[in-house]
Parts: sequence; structure tokens; C-alpha cells
Amino acid sequence: MTVLVTGGAGFIGSNFVLDWLERSDEPVVNLDALTYAGNRRNLASLDGDPRHVFVHGDIGDRALVERLLAEHRPRAIVHFAAESHVDRSIHGPAAFVRTNVEGTFALLEAARAYWAALDGGAKARFRFHHVSTDEVYGSLGPDDPAFTEDHPYRPNSPYSASKAASDHLVRAWHHTYGLPVVTTNCSNNYGPYHFPEKLIPLMIVNALAGKPLPIYGDGLNVRDWLYVGDHCSGVRAVLERGRLGETYNIGGWNEKTNREIVHTICALLDELRPDPAGPYRRLITYVADRPGHDRRYAIDACKIERELGWRPAETFDSGIRKTVQWYLDHPQWVAEVQSGAYRDWVATNYGAR
Ligand code: NAD
Ligand code: DAU
Repeated sequence: MTVLVTGGAGFIGSNFVLDWLERSDEPVVNLDALTYAGNRRNLASLDGDPRHVFVHGDIGDRALVERLLAEHRPRAIVHFAAESHVDRSIHGPAAFVRTNVEGTFALLEAARAYWAALDGGAKARFRFHHVSTDEVYGSLGPDDPAFTEDHPYRPNSPYSASKAASDHLVRAWHHTYGLPVVTTNCSNNYGPYHFPEKLIPLMIVNALAGKPLPIYGDGLNVRDWLYVGDHCSGVRAVLERGRLGETYNIGGWNEKTNREIVHTICALLDELRPDPAGPYRRLITYVADRPGHDRRYAIDACKIERELGWRPAETFDSGIRKTVQWYLDHPQWVAEVQSGAYRDWVATNYGAR
């Protein structure tokens, strides 16, 4: 048996592949286009491991996907590949429509043709697992209940609109063609291999470099944070035991304002790598807000707990400490991802703020 993972060189995908192969010998075919966010170094520990087949390619390349399906006969597709950064979607939405919408469409069509031709047992076992986000539900007020799976879709950014579109395609391919799909909508992840364009890794790497820590707006936007290893275990639970055609929210029961997050990182760095120039919080800088910035996300993860017995294993305190320590222990990884293209992005996003 084999699984086909898309986007397995990105942040969550690489954590998923590494976790998967730590727990089982079932091979992984890893299809990734190696955009700026894809990084083969995340998977360096698998070099030479015959259980991991890396394929450099695009999910929108239907002929390639068909060939991979015919050759490897996977029992499941776990679909992480996406453009994932809200700020980039504001500066350049086209890539988000191309990969998240058209790419998911192409993958669904290839999966449908492959699944339709499978025989009884293999056909019944096959799963298409679509990995999505809580951002499709829009923004909550301070006292609103957390998002359940029945919350209306109200995406507000080009990123979340493109993910919402992909969720709808996946749903329709199940409803119309019977493709055996499951979808998970997860809250904000953090942990090892997180590209330093997102809040938590950006704050860690900037603090260590003595650079400003740019908080958008008043810093009181709320996100629900989940350690990436817990997201991976949630995906495995839904892939193995989730009901067909259902969606499952995955979250950490851990709402924090951005201010709290940044202050926590500064305090941990003060403890683990004190700066002779003074406490890291001196670097905090409030900058112009993100256009259309969603105020609050919160996930109600009761359904996955009730049906599948899944709960996060990590607390925020344990997860954020591990994460900060990981960045302190991997200066080479940090240096390598801050290439010329990364510096261009920093200038584009922060230059005029
Ligand atoms: P990421 O940006 O770190 O990685 C995305 C990966 O997809 C990269 O390796 C990239 O090279 C690859 N990719 C992009 N376009 C591709 C294409 N056309 N064909 C093949 N590969 C392509 O993203 P991430 O943070 O790891 O997120 C993974 C998935 O999880 C996404 O679908 C995202 O929407 C979802 N998600 C992310 C979070 C989060 O907090 N990061 C939370 C919930 C859901
Ligand atoms: O909720 C799940 C989503 O979480 C995923 O679907 C996305 O792929 C992922 O990128 C993430 O989206 P966010 O926009 O919430 O994450 P980001 O790390 O970009 O920002 C988190 C919060 O921090 C948000 O309120 C904006 C703020 N922020 C972010 C950056 C990069 C800042 O204040 N300053 C910054 O420099």
C-alpha cells in the first residue's frame, strides 16, 4: 500500500511525511512543485530511504498525476499542496487561484478517473483527503461561539476564497460522482520547518537577528494555535476513520491575541538566548494593518473528538517552547531559507508599512 501526498515539502506536509514514516513503513509518493515554500532540506533525513519517493511536479499537471497514480496505485491522496500565505494572496492572488482552485480541480479529475477504474476492495478503501483551513468560515466577533463544521462559508481574503472554492469542488466531487473524500479544516499551525513569512517563525528569526517585530494593527486579532504534530495526528485519524463526505474541524482550543504570542516568544528567547542589548520585547513595532484582516478565528473541535477520539497532545506552553528551541537549534536551516527571494518578499510586504 502507498499514499500520495501533495505539498509534502512544505511546512505541514513535510511534518506529515516525516511523522508518517516514523510510524509506519507504508511508502509515500510526495508530489511537490518546490515553490518558494517547498524545501527539500525539510526531508533530508529521508535521503536514500526507499519508502519516500519525491516527485518534483505540479498538481495541475494532469498527465503527471495520472502517470503517478497508474504507477504507484496509492490507496489514498492526502492533499496539502497550496499557496498558503494570506499576505502573498493580497499582493498576488493569481497563483492562489491557479494552485488552490485549478490545481485541486485537476487533482480531483485525475483521482476520479483512477478511482473509477479500481476494483471492489481497492475502490472501497480509496480516500481523497483534502486539507483545508478555518479561514473559509470568515471572522468571528469577540463573543461569538467557535466555528463548527456547519458554520457558513464567508471567506474574506483571496487565500481563504481560493481554499473555500477548493473545499466546494471536493464536496461536489463526492456528492455528484461519489468520490470518497474527507475534508479537514484546521486552525493556525506552528512548529518546526515553518517558513518565516508567518507570524511565529518570523518573530523568532527577526528577534534573533535584532530586527523589528512587526505587529499588524493593534495586535488584538485572535488565532487558535495548534502544534503541527497534532495537526498531523488529526489528519491521520480522519484519513483512517473519518466518515466519507464529512468535514472535520481540527483546532488547539488555544485562542491567543497576536500580542500575547509575540510577548511569549520574546520571554522564551530572553530565557533561552538572552540578548545583552536588552529584552527582546524592545523590538516590537506596530505597523499598518493587513487589508481585510480577519479579527478572530476559533475552532470547535468537538466533532473529531466525539467521533474519532482525537484531541491535541501538546499544550501551547509545551509546543511553543519546543518550537523556539527548534529554531535555536537549526540556524543553518534559517539562514538557507532567507535567500534573495525571501528578502524581496520582506521588502514587498514590510517596506511601505
Ligand atoms: P506551505 O506554503 O508551507 O507549503 C505548501 C507546499 O505546497 C510547498 O511545499 C509548495 O512547494 C507546494 N506547492 C505549492 N503549489 C503547488 C503546486 N501547484 N503543485 C504541487 N505542489 C505545490 O503550506 P502549509 O502551511 O504547509 O499548508 C499546507 C496545507 O495546509 C495548505 O493546503 C493550507 O491551506 C493548509 N493549512 C495550513 C495551515 C497553517 O497554519 N499553515 C492551517 C490550516 C490549513
Ligand atoms: O487559520 C489557518 C491559517 O493560518 C492557514 O490557513 C494559513 O495558511 C496560515 O498562513 C495562517 O493564516 P494567518 O493569516 O492567520 O497566519 P499569519 O501567520 O500570516 O498571521 C497570523 C496573525 O499574525 C494574523 O492576525 C496576522 C498577524 N501578523 C502576521 C505577520 C506575518 C502580524 O501581526 N505580523 C506579521 O508580520
